[in-house]
Amino acid sequence: MNGGLRVAIDGPMGAGKGTVARLVACRLGYRYVDTGAMYRAVAWKALREGVDLEDPRAVEEVARAARIRLEPNPEGMRVWCDGEDVTEAIRSAQVSAAVARVAANPGVRALLTEQQREMARGGGVVMEGRDIGTVVLPDAEVKVFLEASLEERARRRYAELRARGEAVSLDQVRELVRRDDEVARTRITAPLRRAQDAVLVDTTGRTPEEVAEEIVRLVEARVGVR
Ligand code: DC
Repeated sequence: MNGGLRVAIDGPMGAGKGTVARLVACRLGYRYVDTGAMYRAVAWKALREGVDLEDPRAVEEVARAARIRLEPNPEGMRVWCDGEDVTEAIRSAQVSAAVARVAANPGVRALLTEQQREMARGGGVVMEGRDIGTVVLPDAEVKVFLEASLEERARRRYAELRARGEAVSLDQVRELVRRDDEVARTRITAPLRRAQDAVLVDTTGRTPEEVAEEIVRLVEARVGVR
């Protein structure tokens, strides 16, 4: 592993993982991997095919057949599923409401975890999700767990959805974020939790740049001791 370190960034919906991880990757010249986008792509495909989300086998088959590709580009990343650009489609309120159930499926998790480990082989990666420090890359050199108050996380997600023209209310988004948390923290397979050796960073009231700077310093300190 000589292409750089593996940086794992976990935390609940709206904690700022995406923006922060992208900034950190850019600063370090590392590859940014948004694992939530992979779960979203599976949810998108399952909805598109009208698959019953309560049928675990059927949803697992959707994941097995899906060809998901994350393509870095100057604005961040484009997401492809079966040759179709789904970058925008996977952020819809409909996919957001369905994805936690898809991500609770152990078969889906096993398939995507395998692909994520493959992407991190060789290092030089900032991987962001819910279980990166605990399950996907338990031996990552740098682990960070981002937190923020429910109110702030709801406001951030609300702003994102409104910017994309979704007709949602703040109350609806707060409920979505709260429910997503509950499902992620209480699921049996790979629940959302801070790895013992992850640095806890509260992003409430802080800019993504400030938080990214703190993480870059953690990485630089770690490079120094290699
Ligand atoms: O980060 P996000 O909101 O795009 O994540 C979408 C969903 O996928 C959310 O329900 C949490 C889940 N997820 C997960 O279970 N494990 C990951 N490593 C990443 C996301």
